[in-house]
Amino acid sequence: MTSGLYPGPLLMLLCLLHVSEETCPSICLCISDTVSCSSSGLAKLPRSLPSFSVTLDLSHNHLSWLGPGSFKKMPRLENLRMAHNQLTILGHGVFHNASGLRHIDLSSNKLHVVEQHYFEGLWRLEELLLFNNKITQVEASTLSGLSSLKKVYFSVNQITHFPFFSIQDHTHPFLTMLDLSSNRMSRLPWEDVKALPGLVQRGLYLHNNSLICDCSMYSVFWHWNLRGYDSLRDFADEHTCSVYGDQRATIQFLQHNRFFHNCTVEKAVSQPVIVLLSHVLVSDGDRVRLDCQTSLDRDSTNLSFTWLSPSKGYVTQTSINDTLISLFPNGTLEIEAAKVNDSGLYVCTAVDIKQGLNATREVNVTVRLPAGETFNTGYTTLLGCVVTMFFILIYLYLTPCRCSCCKQPKPPVIPNATYDPSTLTSVFSHSTGDHYKIQTNKHVAFLEPMLSEEGTEWPPES
Ligand SMILES: *[C@@H]1O[C@H](CO)[C@@H](O)[C@H](O)[C@H]1NC(C)=O
Ligand SMILES: *[C@@H]1O[C@H](CO)[C@@H](O)[C@H](O)[C@H]1NC(C)=O
Ligand SMILES: *[C@@H]1O[C@H](CO)[C@@H](O)[C@H](O)[C@H]1NC(C)=O
Ligand SMILES: *[C@@H]1O[C@H](CO)[C@@H](O)[C@H](O)[C@H]1NC(C)=O
Ligand SMILES: *[C@@H]1O[C@H](CO)[C@@H](O)[C@H](O)[C@H]1NC(C)=O
Ligand SMILES: *[C@@H]1O[C@H](CO)[C@@H](O)[C@H](O)[C@H]1NC(C)=O
Ligand SMILES: *[C@@H]1O[C@H](CO)[C@@H](O)[C@H](O)[C@H]1NC(C)=O
Ligand SMILES: *[C@@H]1O[C@H](CO)[C@@H](O)[C@H](O)[C@H]1NC(C)=O
Ligand SMILES: *[C@@H]1O[C@H](CO)[C@@H](O)[C@H](O)[C@H]1NC(C)=O
Repeated sequence: MTSGLYPGPLLMLLCLLHVSEETCPSICLCISDTVSCSSSGLAKLPRSLPSFSVTLDLSHNHLSWLGPGSFKKMPRLENLRMAHNQLTILGHGVFHNASGLRHIDLSSNKLHVVEQHYFEGLWRLEELLLFNNKITQVEASTLSGLSSLKKVYFSVNQITHFPFFSIQDHTHPFLTMLDLSSNRMSRLPWEDVKALPGLVQRGLYLHNNSLICDCSMYSVFWHWNLRGYDSLRDFADEHTCSVYGDQRATIQFLQHNRFFHNCTVEKAVSQPVIVLLSHVLVSDGDRVRLDCQTSLDRDSTNLSFTWLSPSKGYVTQTSINDTLISLFPNGTLEIEAAKVNDSGLYVCTAVDIKQGLNATREVNVTVRLPAGETFNTGYTTLLGCVVTMFFILIYLYLTPCRCSCCKQPKPPVIPNATYDPSTLTSVFSHSTGDHYKIQTNKHVAFLEPMLSEEGTEWPPES
């Protein structure tokens, strides 16, 4: 009855209660949409956490257990940081009603087995950090349903088997990073690995495992190496395997491949693997040199080269019957004096006879006529340009300016601007006096070489 008479204090109490639910636990720091309770000595979750937070940082605490629906009162939660705790296991339903999570960091805990229910329902999850735990096993369907995954880190654990088969194009279309380095895998299901989507293969890190050297293993890494994947380039030394499983006989197989010489895998690829594309812009009459640099290693192997040119057809070292074009043993094609009709796409194929491999390089050559000029030697071009400039200057300074002169067409020294403006040739190099030198030294102007996106099919092994 009294409360009916004095509603004020009760409302205030209710109000306070409500506010306290939204206030920051004293041990944490709440800033806008972020709650940080890191390094607070927490052994369990604070009872109430602000419901509006998007980021919750619980790292560097002593959490060893999380109950079902631990985060269900935080509907906006996207980032959960729980690195450096004592979690050994996640019970059922920990992330129940927390399907907004995009980033979960559980690194540096003590998790043993990643059970298939752990991340159930987290279809928005993009990044999952599980490195530096004690994980021995990842259950088969752990990652299924996590269709937004982009990056997963399982590095520095004790994983011996991983369910590669559960990752497919349609199940994980965005996955570009799967870090399984520094684990204890000795034999992998290589057929499953080779069936992974191309983007996953490119982002698969497997170095510093306890791999056993064998041909099927070597074959896979060899292909990735040929395609220039970062994982192999950045960790070349950490790619090791042990001979016959003997840990004392460990070899860095990307550098020392003698053990694999009996493998037939190297003959497996016969399709050109990588096409490198460049553009070359030269002037008529210039000497042009086109390098045939491909992904094949030109030092350690015997390579033979064939060029397909638009104006002269196939050019091989034996077919040359022409002093105007020559092919050096290192694959460089030289055209003594390029003509406009030599323009076009030049394709070089380098063949490694011993390993049965070939790779191609494409060079798009554009030969253009020197600007406003019918003579061919650089010297007369220079002279012509200087004279033309002189007359233009005279014209500009001695003629009273009428409006139409502002709209005059550009002086004739400027070449037809139909080509890539980023090439080095400058109109005004004509007046520098170094014109001839510049032109002869700059036979080739490679722009950014482009790596073609490789297919993901694997040729059958012989
Ligand atoms: C949690 O999700 C279930 C369905 O999965 C739903 O019925 C329930 O209302 C949700 N609870 C909260 C607090 O959002
Ligand atoms: C290799 O992995 C082990 C654990 O499996 C780790 O202790 C070690 O630091 C790793 N080495 C390198 C070079 O990453
Ligand atoms: C490769 O084959 C040769 C002859 O068949 C054999 O003598 C050699 O031991 C083999 N090497 C390896 C590493 O298996
Ligand atoms: C490169 O490999 C393909 C596929 O086997 C083959 O058809 C082609 O003839 C090879 N090219 C050369 C120049 O040997
Ligand atoms: C290249 O091939 C020739 C003969 O075809 C052979 O004598 C030579 O040893 C080979 N060189 C390399 C580096 O394989
Ligand atoms: C290219 O042009 C030159 C003259 O500039 C001519 O002699 C030659 O036949 C032409 N070649 C082709 C393939 O059109
Ligand atoms: C080289 O050219 C000459 C004449 O131009 C011709 O008689 C000869 O058969 C050619 N040789 C080759 C290998 O094509
Ligand atoms: C190939 O050899 C020619 C002639 O010896 C040389 O000018 C050219 O620079 C070499 N190309 C490469 C890529 O080494
Ligand atoms: C080569 O370059 C020319 C001029 O930039 C361009 O028109 C042509 O499409 C290019 N060809 C190829 C195959 O890239």
